[in-house]
Amino acid sequence: MSRYAFLILPSHNRVYADTAPALARAELAVLSAALPDAEIDEESVAETVIGGVPYVAFEAGELSQRDADVLANLSSLYALFEIAGGELPRPVLQPVPLRRLDRFDDDLLTILKYPGKTNEQFTKLLLNVTLASSDFAGSDYALSDVAGGPGSRRLAVLDPLCGRGTTLNQALMYGFDAYGADVDARDVEAYAVFIQRWLKDKRLKHQADFSPVRRDRKVVARRLTARFAATKDEYKAGDVQRLEVVETDTTRVGEFFRAASADLVVADLPYGVQHGSHASGRAGAGSRARGGGRALARSPLDLLREAAPAWVKALRPGGALGISWNTLVARREDAAAALVAAGLEVLDSGPYRAFRHRVDQAITRDILVARKPAR
Ligand SMILES: C[S@@+](CC[C@H](N)C(=O)[O-])C[C@H]1O[C@@H](n2cnc3c(N)ncnc32)[C@H](O)[C@@H]1O
Repeated sequence: MSRYAFLILPSHNRVYADTAPALARAELAVLSAALPDAEIDEESVAETVIGGVPYVAFEAGELSQRDADVLANLSSLYALFEIAGGELPRPVLQPVPLRRLDRFDDDLLTILKYPGKTNEQFTKLLLNVTLASSDFAGSDYALSDVAGGPGSRRLAVLDPLCGRGTTLNQALMYGFDAYGADVDARDVEAYAVFIQRWLKDKRLKHQADFSPVRRDRKVVARRLTARFAATKDEYKAGDVQRLEVVETDTTRVGEFFRAASADLVVADLPYGVQHGSHASGRAGAGSRARGGGRALARSPLDLLREAAPAWVKALRPGGALGISWNTLVARREDAAAALVAAGLEVLDSGPYRAFRHRVDQAITRDILVARKPAR
């Protein structure tokens, strides 16, 4: 057994910084199942302080480069070390070389700032644990070789409550295709404007279009479609990432995305916190939706019950769904029951029950991950 410790990424959000070590432990425990070579001793995972700074320490068989490539993507990992000797409080730390999946500058995730944005680090965590719980992580489809490389295919992530695209951007960052839906016209428009500007600013070869979808001569939605690549050669070779975002009620995603087209479904549910007379997913945003007022007024649990069947249909067998929500407005058992009723297997053991954390006095957030049985 070797001993390792990773340094927690500094967070600008103080509340998140306080909960980050506990969340990092749970994330590590879930991701450890997706390591191609080494095994992590779950019992050994512990928070520790070295030189006055919080770390998460663990014991594992010697980590291969492929294992390190998976761990490099942990949402709050800043730097990973092997404990090469010495004892606490002054161990000898040897850096483990990290190759993150990130394909683009991190301003893809950080430029957009708005009330109600899901914390970027938390979004990455939710995507990571969902991927690690699907059939598409592991020796064939580890986080490290899932996109692009020989013998692998590009994964697709659907966020059916995508807001201004935090999940979509994280999926694109990993080299995946990204599909989204949101009922709030202003969110979809703001995201469309942002991503087209960003693709131009980064001089990435791309095609993008944001236009109405018509059926029987009536406009039924607006849709953003884009295809782009990290390099000109990839673009020429047709090795492109696809992005598609529709302004629609989430119960209707089946009208816009083919059945079994998403490997992962990842969503941060509206928090159901009252702002003025509107139940809203975000501070002060409840009255902004054009035509979305009624849709936004549904309770998060009702929304989940009504939308889960359509989300599950869009999910590929062997894929996984990860949601986060406010436990102060919906109980874990009820949210889990809605997923089971839609045909999913909820993962509810050990680390999957360790993600609950306080965001503010009105929100205590939790995560549920569930799998669609492989055929
Ligand atoms: C917590 S926010 C998600 C924020 C997003 N992750 C982000 O960072 O921008 C929940 C989102 O659900 C959307 N929403 C609420 N009810 C909806 C419905 N019935 N159909 C589609 N979207 C809905 C809201 O407009 C809001 O953008």
